[in-house]
Amino acid sequence: MCGAAAVAVGVGPALLAGDAVAATGIKRKKNGQVVVTVGKVPALSKVGGRVLLGTVKGAPVAVVRTGTSSYTALDLSCTHMGVTVRESADGWTCPAHGSQFAEDGEVTGGPAMADLALVRSRFNAGKGRLTVG
Ligand code: FES
Repeated sequence: MCGAAAVAVGVGPALLAGDAVAATGIKRKKNGQVVVTVGKVPALSKVGGRVLLGTVKGAPVAVVRTGTSSYTALDLSCTHMGVTVRESADGWTCPAHGSQFAEDGEVTGGPAMADLALVRSRFNAGKGRLTVG
């Protein structure tokens, strides 16, 4: 795949095609992990900001800034039947049957009964880098 597909969704997060990560501040490693240099990603400049990473190790993933220096990586597969959720004004909405999730992945409306799954991530505060996957 060539080039990066940077598609704006909602308040400006970038959607990166599964195999082509070329947006500033986001790099895909050969082992499938994605490294986000948070200071270079405008969508993460404030708490509540979100960026879609595309597919990370087979799952659709987004990073949410949850605090001054805390971030959460979410698997965007709906916990009802696995359809990829979409960003909404205050969280995530499933286009299949309407389940609602808060920004941090907490389920707020069914039919899904469980929160979005967390994806393993590690934040290196010294380097300002979040490694996802
Ligand atoms: S698959 Fe998401 S609500 Fe059914």
